Amino acid sequence: MTRYYHILNYGCQMNESDAEHYAGQLLDLGYTYTPDYHEADVIIINTCCVRESAEKKILGKIGEMKQVKRNHPGSVLCVTGCMAQEWGREMLKKYPQVDLLLGTAHVNSFSSILQNYLSSHDSQGLFDDLTVMPQEFEGSFVRKSSFAAWVPIMYGCNNFCTYCIVPYVRGRERSREPEAICREIRRAVSLGYREFTLLGQNVNSYGKDRGEKEGFAHLLELVDAIPGVERIRYMTSHPRDMSEEVVRTIAQSRHVCRHFHIPVQSGSSRIMKAMNRGYDREKYLDLVRTIRKYVPDAVLSTDLIVGFPGETEEDFEDTLSLVREVCFDDAFTFIYSRRSGTPAAKMPDQVPDDVKKERLDRLMEVQNACSLERNKRLVGRTLPVMVEGPSRSNPEVMSGRTDGNNLVLWPKGETEPAPGSIVPVRIERAQTWLLKGRVE
Ligand code: SAH
Ligand code: SF4
Ligand code: F3S
Repeated sequence: MTRYYHILNYGCQMNESDAEHYAGQLLDLGYTYTPDYHEADVIIINTCCVRESAEKKILGKIGEMKQVKRNHPGSVLCVTGCMAQEWGREMLKKYPQVDLLLGTAHVNSFSSILQNYLSSHDSQGLFDDLTVMPQEFEGSFVRKSSFAAWVPIMYGCNNFCTYCIVPYVRGRERSREPEAICREIRRAVSLGYREFTLLGQNVNSYGKDRGEKEGFAHLLELVDAIPGVERIRYMTSHPRDMSEEVVRTIAQSRHVCRHFHIPVQSGSSRIMKAMNRGYDREKYLDLVRTIRKYVPDAVLSTDLIVGFPGETEEDFEDTLSLVREVCFDDAFTFIYSRRSGTPAAKMPDQVPDDVKKERLDRLMEVQNACSLERNKRLVGRTLPVMVEGPSRSNPEVMSGRTDGNNLVLWPKGETEPAPGSIVPVRIERAQTWLLKGRVE
């Protein structure tokens, strides 16, 4: 009899990668994917707790599973990821429908945990030790994309930005061995993968826990030299740790994309300090100048938080002016969310919701104008675009990404280029979120 699995995934790219590792292990155990979780024998809810909005949505789903499981006796509900790590123990008590809880360091031991659970008929199981180095993944790779692959290079974060829950749920920084990373990439190349995104909460400190000062720059060089690798991306950089050496390495590389995602979070030095970011406005702007010196064509994007405790109108205007000064190509903008257990949750002068919302709207307006201005500069140029496939909204239109990660649309020709191939597209029109063009 066929046994089915379903995975509900939330959160960042690291969670997407973890979800693929869960899927691979289930496949190796003989399970088949079903798009309908009502008929799944194993359901995984892979959770995120970075903001309250995510957490609320997920709790609703866990609640709904009570009935789903009642209708399908014998099915196993696993809650994994950052929320499971944060308060798994309470969750087991509060939600008896949950069978297995796996914290973030146990992703790759899921297969053996599930098998033990099924053979021992335990009531509930909790695996939340964060001090272990995650096992090397030995299962089959089940990747969503046929040409782009996530590759975790390190786990955890040592930064403790005062608003952020991630260090508490992902543990301390632990870097994988460069040889293991390169082996994984070579294997994916042999399966047809062309683009690789190196993942970590702070990739610029890659290797430091192994005693290497410029570990990330060296890793980029190693991956750049692997035959068959077309594009290398990485998520996420920390501006404090992004060295000139890394920028130079990227500038000299053949395949590392000229896209720099450097989360600034705020434009006010006072707030950056309260956030424990380890740089101030001037240092950040120095980094932007260094990047543009070595890579004049660099695409720059960032993350921004509005309404951090104590943020005044003047601080917020510093954010607006920094955004205008740098003129980012793109920005992810967030409303500060109070995360209990983090230092900022206890800070005085929490900003009222309506003020946060109003600041977010103003910030997005400024950023949208910058995105449009930056995109307009590409009109008339012919750019190499990696094909993703037909656009979701219109199958007559093809979509792909530039080296700088800009989304590009163009009319489908007589022959459809394969996903993952690179085609030259002449850019004819620029919009805020995308570019439109024609294959040359
Ligand atoms: N390690 C990465 C990603 C962290 S989470 C990094 O440092 O960039 C991604 C983004 O979520 C952060 O950059 C930050 O902008 C945002 N974020 C984190 N905690 C938040 C909180 N409590 N409220 C609002 N946004 C938050
Ligand atoms: Fe969170 Fe800061 Fe670590 Fe990023 S660097 S994960 S924002 S603590
Ligand atoms: Fe969320 Fe965990 Fe990623 S809290 S953003 S899934 S590291």
